[in-house]
Amino acid sequence: MSILVSTFSFAQKFEGLAMTPPMGWNSWNKFGCDVSEKLIKEIADAMVNSGMKDAGYQYVIIDDCWQTGRDLNGNIIPDPERFPSGMKAVADYVHSKGLKFGIYSDAGTKTCQQRPGARGYEFQDARTYAAWGVDYLKLDWCNTSTQNAQASYMLMRDAIYKAGRPVVFSLCDWGISKPWLWAKDVGHLWRATDDIMDCWDCEDNRNNAGFTILLDRVADLYSYSGPDHWNDPDMLEVGNSGLSVSESRAHFSLWCILAAPLIAGNDLRNMTEETLTILTNKEAIDVDQDALGKQGVKVRDDGDLEVWVKQLADGSRAVVLFNRSKQEATIAVSWEELGYPAYIKAKVRDLWLHKDMGNYKKSYSAAVPPHDAVMIRVTPL
Ligand code: GLA
Repeated sequence: MSILVSTFSFAQKFEGLAMTPPMGWNSWNKFGCDVSEKLIKEIADAMVNSGMKDAGYQYVIIDDCWQTGRDLNGNIIPDPERFPSGMKAVADYVHSKGLKFGIYSDAGTKTCQQRPGARGYEFQDARTYAAWGVDYLKLDWCNTSTQNAQASYMLMRDAIYKAGRPVVFSLCDWGISKPWLWAKDVGHLWRATDDIMDCWDCEDNRNNAGFTILLDRVADLYSYSGPDHWNDPDMLEVGNSGLSVSESRAHFSLWCILAAPLIAGNDLRNMTEETLTILTNKEAIDVDQDALGKQGVKVRDDGDLEVWVKQLADGSRAVVLFNRSKQEATIAVSWEELGYPAYIKAKVRDLWLHKDMGNYKKSYSAAVPPHDAVMIRVTPL
């Protein structure tokens, strides 16, 4: 006779919550510590009214600085001046718009902005979040001293599961512990890089960098990403001030090819037409959200001219022709680079022009403006 005894029946993540990369908005890139219930409600309104919700954006996530301390019982306290109605009211408002609500904490004693962290309060905080109606938790890695990342993140995973409310769990140790090697059953996404900076290729002395550099850092990790467990090269900078329109288009195209989580980081209340057009490009988003869940790969690197390819569920391929140079250039992709025989005929559709470009054999090429990308879908006939 065998008896199965499980003392840790709560030791698992909520499965199936992120079968495609999560889409939403997070306060950090644009607002830093300047968060409030007024901002979050207005962003939720804007997400609906702008068409972002219809395009697939769902999570409204408050990053660092919403929390100020703990009460005598250890309960986490939201900033009473910035969130006078309390977090449950904010979550209720977000839910009333048909959206989901996300929050931020840290696995250490304090967050990166020195607010109270979750260490030692994991189960209590998870119960609090469940009571508020939290649907998404990003757990940062500041002030963790000698903590073990795997143990710390598993503890919070277990706490979330025990609390009983399904929560997408976003790990944020910046790739330090190589979470792609161990976090598949712990979280739904993990940061694979340091923080994104609002620029093309700048870098600071703490490894934070512009999107082209983060792209290179996450490129080789393609085999670890898939449905319910995504590499996260950090949030979008589209619509902030550091990138031109063509650079923003390239950033978005590449994040879609990577099957990256699409977490907007701009002020949704105040977007230019160009920003909105980029963020809501349904044909590009469909590539990101494709059910096969493959992270795209770089199949050619001619210095500043690159070809990136993502396999899609229907057998077609999404392709980004990426021009890092400062001159316009013609970039070609061959069918063999896509994994197709050269002789087949395939339909080419441009996903930014929203236009069928014709049927081609062997290869396709396009003129790509400087610091820009052409994104196509190649479908064998
Ligand atoms: C870290 C994270 C960022 C952001 C800040 C907030 O740097 O990587 O995404 O959450 O902390 O302090």
